[in-house]
Amino acid sequence: MQFKKVCKSSEIQNGQIKNILVEDKNVLLANIDNNIFATSGQCTHEKVDLENGFIMGEDITCPLHLSRFNLKTGKSLNPPATEELAIYNVKIQNEEIYIEID
Ligand code: FES
Repeated sequence: MQFKKVCKSSEIQNGQIKNILVEDKNVLLANIDNNIFATSGQCTHEKVDLENGFIMGEDITCPLHLSRFNLKTGKSLNPPATEELAIYNVKIQNEEIYIEID
């Protein structure tokens, strides 16, 4: 596992999400109260991209069948999705966002 630079912190304002591809992994970055979190970018139910979902507070709702996930913990909060999202460690250095990924 190593940290990879993914984008500038200024590219994601508070309350926004951004989808990126890192080492062939679809990753969703979220700015929640000016802290950056990184999860898998696809719903665990049917692999739908979550970047088109609806963000509310710490949660994102899948646009297809409306399962909600917590963006800080990856936890699935209601069916039909039951598996949690993968989460990745994040660090900010010199206004760049890095995530830890293998
Ligand atoms: S694809 Fe996300 S809840 Fe079904």
